[in-house]
Amino acid sequence: MIDQLGDLLGQLNALRARAIAELEPITTSSELDEWDTRYLGRNRGELKALSSVMPKLSKEERPVVGQKINAVKAALERELAAKREALHQRELTQALEQERIDVTLPGRALPEGHMHPISRIIQDVTKIFVEMGFHAVQGLEVETDYYNFQALNIPADHPARDMQDTFWVNPGQILLRTHTSPMQVRTMKQMRPPVRVVVPGKVYRNEAVDATHEAMFHQIEGLLVDEFCTMADLKGCLERFAQELFGEGRRVRFRGSYFPFTEPSAEVDIDCPLCNGEGCRICKYTGWLEILGSGMVHPKLLREVGYDPTKYRGFAFGMGVERIAMLKYGIGEIRLFSGNDLRFLRQF
Ligand code: PHE
Repeated sequence: MIDQLGDLLGQLNALRARAIAELEPITTSSELDEWDTRYLGRNRGELKALSSVMPKLSKEERPVVGQKINAVKAALERELAAKREALHQRELTQALEQERIDVTLPGRALPEGHMHPISRIIQDVTKIFVEMGFHAVQGLEVETDYYNFQALNIPADHPARDMQDTFWVNPGQILLRTHTSPMQVRTMKQMRPPVRVVVPGKVYRNEAVDATHEAMFHQIEGLLVDEFCTMADLKGCLERFAQELFGEGRRVRFRGSYFPFTEPSAEVDIDCPLCNGEGCRICKYTGWLEILGSGMVHPKLLREVGYDPTKYRGFAFGMGVERIAMLKYGIGEIRLFSGNDLRFLRQF
């Protein structure tokens, strides 16, 4: 009996030693789980197998072996817990190492776009007039012959049509507007005075393309109609505009001109902001730059839209946005604006 007891205790010691030795090289939690079932498993664990001899032992032997089994079990469970913790720590350290990010690295800058120079001019010009009490409205790019020409006192055989060679959608009826002036008539038909609008937008002319002409370009139309409105108001308004856009102290010059829808009509120049009127390449050594066409709204138009021409007066003006941009930035080639060349666009 004594021998059997000594043998049993020896087996338990050996089991503990073997289990601990096998635990040592384990590196993954699945291997660890296998080890757990092999030694501590409730059904086929080795410790359980050795415990099965208990009922065959004597009363005196049982507590001795029982205590030994419990001690071995406790020891193995301690080792297991320690190993689990160690593995967990290792995995954590590894993960931290692999997934490490250096938050102090400079970020990748997102390329930032900016406004096209034409859009900038449209926005700047519109803002100047909005601050003077005008509303910004949009018109139609596809217009009728009536609004683009007839209602503007340009009948079918009028020579003024030759200056605005037209892209026809439907010859004699539907066209791509050649200027923003059709919005004068549309606006007046839609509202009663006082009228104060600016109309930026695209216009189309079937022109030979060169350094200063394109088939599609932009205009900004202005229209004011009220009971008391004189050419002095037009002049003051445009002078204010020229100074806001081209710089304080700019002077304006009115030259008599002709448009069928204004009477009297005037071309408006500013003294060249690049040479201060001294004469340079941009102003072709005249000291003056033409920036827009203008005039007092023709009484025929007022009658056409149902306004009483003895009661109401108005002024109108129209400017080419590309031209303004070329003058403002000293650019000699209009095609650069539609070219989408980033080397050009990035300069603005
Ligand atoms: N619509 C004219 C043009 O395109 C410009 C203009 C507008 C002139 C308003 C007078 C008044 O040439």
